[in-house]
Amino acid sequence: MSNVKQAMDTYLNGLRNQHAVETQAIGTIQNELPRMEAYPDLHAKMKADHERSVTQAARLDDLLEKHGSKKSLLKEAVTGAVATVAGFTHAGADDEVLKNVLPAIGFKAYEISAYKVLLALADASGAGDDKSVLEQSMKEEQEMGDWLGSNLPNIVHAYLDRKSA
Ligand SMILES: [Fe+2]
Repeated sequence: MSNVKQAMDTYLNGLRNQHAVETQAIGTIQNELPRMEAYPDLHAKMKADHERSVTQAARLDDLLEKHGSKKSLLKEAVTGAVATVAGFTHAGADDEVLKNVLPAIGFKAYEISAYKVLLALADASGAGDDKSVLEQSMKEEQEMGDWLGSNLPNIVHAYLDRKSA
């Protein structure tokens, strides 16, 4: 197998994996949203992130289709590692919001890196045309990760205010 062909195989696999990651994110956020209503800023951001994840998954679908990979083959299992990072398991805990925002930040870091890998693979497999779409998704992940990171203190204060109310 030529290097370019091998890179393309790896790239297509990466697109499928990231599609599974976005799908996982959509489900996780959907479960989380109702319990974030007491935190309006966080709730609004997570809602926007949910919509973006739907768009990001569709972008990955479009890229796969462009390279001749059928959408019907996309039902990949999410890897255990990702499921753990994304698996906001603190439902019902008193400090649930604090416990869930940390994996959310970790999940964004994972996604930024995943898009970085896809960008390098797109280059190596002669699919440089795909990069602007992948860069757009990576930028969105970065924005959300930055927002969560810089708003951590606000979220802590909102949590404490609610607790003492
Ligand atoms: Fe995403």
